[in-house]
Amino acid sequence: MTAAIDVEDVLSRLNNVEKTSLLAGSDWWHTVALPQHGVPAIRVSDGPNGVRGTKFFNGIKAACFPCGTALGATWDTELLHKAGVAMGHESKAKGSHVILGPTINMQRSPLGGRGFESLSEDPVLAGLGAAALVNGIQETGVVATIKHFVCNDMEHERNGTDAIVTERALREIYALPFQLVVKESQPGCFMTAYNKVNGLHVSENPKILKDMLRGEWGWKGCVMSDWWGTYSTTGAANAGLDLEMPGATKWRGEMLTQAVGVNKVPQHVLDERVRNVLNLVNRCAAANIPEHAEEKTADTPETAALLRKIGGESIVLMKNEDNILPLKKDKKTLILGPNAKIATYHGGGSASLAAYYAVTPFDGISAQLTTPPSYTVGSYAHKELPLLGTVLKTDKGQPGVTFRVYNDPPSVKDRELCDEIILDKTEFLLMDYNNPKVKSALWYADIDGYFTAEEDSDFELGLGVYGTAKLYVDGKLVIDNETKQTKGTLFFHCGTVEEKGILSVKKGQKYHIKVEFASAPACKLDQGSNVLFGGGAARIGGAKVIDADKEVKHAAELAKDADQVIICAGLNADWEGEGTDREDMSLPGHMDALISAVSIANPSTVVVMQSGTPMAMPWISSVKALVHAWYGGNETGNAIADILFGNVNPSAKLPLSFPKRLQDNPAFLNYRTERGRALYGEDVYVGYRWYEMLDLPVLFPFGHGLSYTTFSFSDLKVDKTDKDLKIAVKVSNTGSLAGAEVVQVYISQKSPSIRRPKKELKGFKKVFLEKGESKLVEVKIETKYATSFWDEIREAWVSEKDTYEVVVGGSSEEVTVVRGSFEVEKTVWWNGL
Ligand code: BGC
Repeated sequence: MTAAIDVEDVLSRLNNVEKTSLLAGSDWWHTVALPQHGVPAIRVSDGPNGVRGTKFFNGIKAACFPCGTALGATWDTELLHKAGVAMGHESKAKGSHVILGPTINMQRSPLGGRGFESLSEDPVLAGLGAAALVNGIQETGVVATIKHFVCNDMEHERNGTDAIVTERALREIYALPFQLVVKESQPGCFMTAYNKVNGLHVSENPKILKDMLRGEWGWKGCVMSDWWGTYSTTGAANAGLDLEMPGATKWRGEMLTQAVGVNKVPQHVLDERVRNVLNLVNRCAAANIPEHAEEKTADTPETAALLRKIGGESIVLMKNEDNILPLKKDKKTLILGPNAKIATYHGGGSASLAAYYAVTPFDGISAQLTTPPSYTVGSYAHKELPLLGTVLKTDKGQPGVTFRVYNDPPSVKDRELCDEIILDKTEFLLMDYNNPKVKSALWYADIDGYFTAEEDSDFELGLGVYGTAKLYVDGKLVIDNETKQTKGTLFFHCGTVEEKGILSVKKGQKYHIKVEFASAPACKLDQGSNVLFGGGAARIGGAKVIDADKEVKHAAELAKDADQVIICAGLNADWEGEGTDREDMSLPGHMDALISAVSIANPSTVVVMQSGTPMAMPWISSVKALVHAWYGGNETGNAIADILFGNVNPSAKLPLSFPKRLQDNPAFLNYRTERGRALYGEDVYVGYRWYEMLDLPVLFPFGHGLSYTTFSFSDLKVDKTDKDLKIAVKVSNTGSLAGAEVVQVYISQKSPSIRRPKKELKGFKKVFLEKGESKLVEVKIETKYATSFWDEIREAWVSEKDTYEVVVGGSSEEVTVVRGSFEVEKTVWWNGL
């Protein structure tokens, strides 16, 4: 697919049936082709931390990048640009013209199920960071999709919720990152949010799509709906929604043709929608990706090195009392924690993908130690039992399970086998599974694997499903998730709870595990407003039963005997994923008890925390060292080890505030849908804007992050013209190691005519310095962006005549900052970019 089409010529030749056909996907991941008019199909693919390709189920392996909050934590636009380029190449390998990412919704609350996908709680960091990614992606010819526009900031009733938000907060907090992305990178696509904003779903909201995005910002690209996030024919087409995704269409086709026929949708509006899709097709031609290309892998040492670098640059050194970090490679080391031996490399939902490989923290750390570490899990953290995956073997001894598909249920003798696949992951998301031999939506699968016990113990098995499923061990029914089903949160909220069963196992003995699965239509649960899910889903998990208190004591005993202890704690994709928000900020299981007991037993204890969003840390005063490692992609374990042993000097900064308590969070009272609406009651005071305004102490502030060296700031110079503000500051590395610091520029208006946050991030730059080196760092910000707030009466941004203070430092916490000021001589209102 290389030849560009003459859009106006094609438009003039299409009839309305052909035109409407172009305005919805053909399937989950492709647009419709019109070969008779030279219009090829284009492929889109998730996004945002890699490129999965066309299959949720049994996908071709891919590079997993650190999650959004990790990318935001680098505060390094040059590195993010490189990440974008690498994502573009990954996309080409998957034959995908369009990446469905980056995500830049706001982390209003620590509880957001998809908080990990987005870059930051701050619109400038999120917007400029995402623009760097988009520029990198689009440099390769692949098109980026910025999502989810706008106010898709929580998962609770995400399709139906109405975000009630003031125009000011909408502009200054929620839409601003999208505005900055348009200004700095012109992404080819926008994806609309599932929710309503102030009474109307975004996918049919003319104020947002027509007036703001296309009118005021002058953006010329293609707007697609989120998956099943188109909810009307006429309203959506008239408001500016070009592409209904996925296909086949629910709202367009004949209905849209008729709507045009009766002038509910004017002909020129239909033509405009088609023009935008054709322009996208044309733009994609630059990527030179053949139509329906075979999906390939592109696992290169360069990608691995880049992922390791991004991983290292994203890990935040939160605390390092007595400089217990970096650790020594030749000391007796104990590794604990549920995240040690499982590579927790991505969050849940559409951001998940099958990585080429994923390094566990245990393996990454062990590889750098001179003698092998000791280990015990210490505590579990799972919500659902860990996937059995390669713990199981097929009858031929391959890692994983055999997945056999049939049209008939197991009761039918000699049923015909339609498909047989070996899978090394025991979570099966079958929404995009199809096979020509499968005759109806209701089909069946037998999943077989063999488990060999490592020790005598009770072993707990878990089975969650969207559809129905029964689990047998050596022919005996152990879990019935068919006869009675209970609604849970699995599979984007469509599935059952995980049903469990216990097996008493003997060391060395082999057990045959068989799951009989029936696809989605068999499901007995009421699906309410949930999106459809194709073939359904299932997952098989398991873990040794442990006595939690005994295990914590055991870990503390081992800790006494070690020189240094590393606890790999945190959340995982069970807790942070699509469709569900967390219920509280606490670490699951007995992890708090584990960390407290072990840090008392051995003061040389380091906690490595993995989560996309903030956690409560009741033990923080007794732990000397803490690093925050997010979900780190393929190189998770190596990147963590690089920081722990000082191969990499930490330089990441928090892209979101970590509050002390959930109650302190500004969205505490309003982080769920109440009878259809979610009140954005905190207004513009999101994240640090709130904590600073209320003088509320936080656990760790926005922008915080330590280094193994020290930096100082001096010689601030503020140079202002009508157009630009040039902030120059001298940064010196005053410690004994090379390292990088982030220059964070905050601005506050002295006497605003309305209440404004105490200060707001307006620009930033990361700078690398050898030990003893000083550099003059310049950050350029457009004056109007540095100074303006949204004037609701004039429906415009206003930069008021006033004095503005400039606060520059390495964190939002005003400890070692330098200050300056500048004047705006004349009040100016402005719109657009
Ligand atoms: C998500 C999108 C994603 C799409 C396709 C939706 O559920 O909200 O972010 O791109 O699915 O997987």
